[in-house]
Amino acid sequence: MLQIQENVSLKPYNTFGIEAKARYFVEINEEQDLVSLFSDAQWHAFERLVIGGGSNMLLVTDFNGLVVRLNIQGISDYAEGDTVFVEAGAGEVWNDLVNFCVDNGFAGMENLSLIPGSVGASPIQNIGAYGVELKDVFESCRAFEIATQQFKTFSKEDCQFGYRESVFKSALRGQYIIVSVKFRLSVTPRLNLSYGAIEQELANRGISNPTIKEVSQVVAAIRVSKLPDPSTIGNSGSFFKNPVIPQAQFESIYKSYPAIANYPAGEGYVKLAAGWLIEQCGWKGKTIGHTGTWKNQALVLVNHGGATGQEVYSLSSQIIDSVYTKFGVMLEREVNIIQ
Ligand code: EPU
Repeated sequence: MLQIQENVSLKPYNTFGIEAKARYFVEINEEQDLVSLFSDAQWHAFERLVIGGGSNMLLVTDFNGLVVRLNIQGISDYAEGDTVFVEAGAGEVWNDLVNFCVDNGFAGMENLSLIPGSVGASPIQNIGAYGVELKDVFESCRAFEIATQQFKTFSKEDCQFGYRESVFKSALRGQYIIVSVKFRLSVTPRLNLSYGAIEQELANRGISNPTIKEVSQVVAAIRVSKLPDPSTIGNSGSFFKNPVIPQAQFESIYKSYPAIANYPAGEGYVKLAAGWLIEQCGWKGKTIGHTGTWKNQALVLVNHGGATGQEVYSLSSQIIDSVYTKFGVMLEREVNIIQ
């Protein structure tokens, strides 16, 4: 039975820990709940916000519509030779799924350990860390089409994954609700240890031939050392995307800043580390009112307690302005801004 609540505080539902209210709030525990909800013309037409773990959004004000929180649970798996397919409900906590896979010896997810958020949100922005992206382990997802109230399966190709991008953020934005995701893993590990910090941490621990469990532990340790834990310091991970700029523009910046952190990004383009740019503008570890940037990672904006969404948003605008003024590079917010 669907329970629609009124005037619900969203503080427990966003990892930034921002106090904002939803006019209406409903939790979806099974697929059929979506059919019941959206076959009602009143709710179909209502402004809505679909959330999972609330780990990639900033609530700038109260939300004067219906918040739909996905809470569909369940993890199942089956093997075909070396390949293991794992299917998880959208409401499963991402890291619980990673732990399930690591504990069962299903390889592929270990570099994605400890990313906050839910399974259902993972394809939307093609989450990634330490040399691996969701698309590398994605098989398909099942999603509910709001307009027709039908369920549809999306293949990897259908999802059009890019860097922190998918069709669910672009052409199909707001049209589908992901209810479950199927992953393609392997019982034969193919470790991706290319990310410098992983190699270094394995060496520090004297591990030369790591298991997936050890890789998962090393990734978790690196994250803990660099990133604030949202259960104690509100945040949404990287607030901005790493900008991709044309080679010619890069070369002109490089002349003045030869130490600039950069990575290849396909023919004629270079990706810059937004954290580096922000740090160069003097923002790293700064506190402004109740907000600021994290002392170990300038790309992460934090709530030191009691910050409003407006305060965090306004800090992000100041950062965009100063990076643009100094480097001529326009940062793009990665976090979903709800206003
Ligand atoms: N850097 C600085 N100063 C800073 C932060 C970073 O100089 O304050 C430099 C570092 O020294 C390094 C480079 O920037 O040379 C890259 O930093 P890091 O390895 O921390 O990664 P990132 O590019 O800042 C990205 C993802 C993270 C992911 C890490 C690890 C984006 C927007 N962010 O951050 O993802 O965990 O790589 O793979 O792509 C997220 O999306 O929420 C997220 C946390």
